[in-house]
Amino acid sequence: MARRVSRRKMPRREDFQMKEQLKIEEGVFENRTMMRLRSFFTHGIISSLEFIIAKGKEADIYLADGGASVSDAFVAVKIFRLETSSFAKRADYINGDPRFGRMRPGISELVNVWCRKEYGNLKIAGAAGIHAPRPYLFNGNVIAMELIGDDEGRPAPTLKDSVLEDPEPIMDSILLQIGRLYVKGLVHSDVSEYNILIKEKIPYFIDFGQAVVLEHPMSKKFLERDIANMLSYFRKQYGIERDLGKALMQVTQGGATGVVDGGNTN
Ligand SMILES: Nc1ncnc2c1ncn2[C@@H]1O[C@H](COP(=O)(O)OP(=O)(O)O)[C@@H](O)[C@H]1O
Ligand SMILES: [Mg+2]
Repeated sequence: MARRVSRRKMPRREDFQMKEQLKIEEGVFENRTMMRLRSFFTHGIISSLEFIIAKGKEADIYLADGGASVSDAFVAVKIFRLETSSFAKRADYINGDPRFGRMRPGISELVNVWCRKEYGNLKIAGAAGIHAPRPYLFNGNVIAMELIGDDEGRPAPTLKDSVLEDPEPIMDSILLQIGRLYVKGLVHSDVSEYNILIKEKIPYFIDFGQAVVLEHPMSKKFLERDIANMLSYFRKQYGIERDLGKALMQVTQGGATGVVDGGNTN
């Protein structure tokens, strides 16, 4: 289990809060998830779990209050559902990635690997200097990360739900960030208007579970699809015309230079 925060003895009040909270959560989460959630309290990542802020296909995202070991007031907790069966097709994003070897795991093991992969990919995104949530901790099917949102704990809207007054710089920043990630050897592989959040006119990438390293035999295809998705969204939504070939060149050859935008906040 990876952990970036220092272990620290939990104050009594947090200990009490955790016990009370876990009583409430019993019946909501299945046993393994409950046990894993406990470690997020004991490591001081969260002090209480609030409510679901978004329901994805395979995971639910909860808002949590930050614990003693994190400086953020709020933390996003992504909990992958263990009973999910649509996970099986995701094996394609794991097989072929040399970090994981060739495996034929069961669903629950697949979810764990997926979660570990998302955590590792978020670390690479941070090292690449792109805008993405800082990962805090993962355990099994649960991952805690920085909430991309406001001071009140409201999550930032997706690109899909945002109306951009000045869309072109945002599109350029997205392409530049895809390039930065590429230079660090990673392709997001699920870039869409649903997996980008807009906070204070800055695009943040989320949902890194399916991101692959360049050694993956499909990485170039995934990169092209990511860029094509963005060009098509900005064309349909904002009438911006860009040539796919040129954009691809720009991403693969100019990724290391240029300014993402006002600077990165990671
Ligand atoms: N770190 C975060 N901060 C704020 N909102 C988030 C964060 N992570 C996820 N969300 C919200 O939850 C939704 C689903 O998360 P995502 O990681 O895309 O899960 P899925 O794999 O189910 O698509 C996102 O569209 C976004 O609205
Ligand atoms: Mg998503």
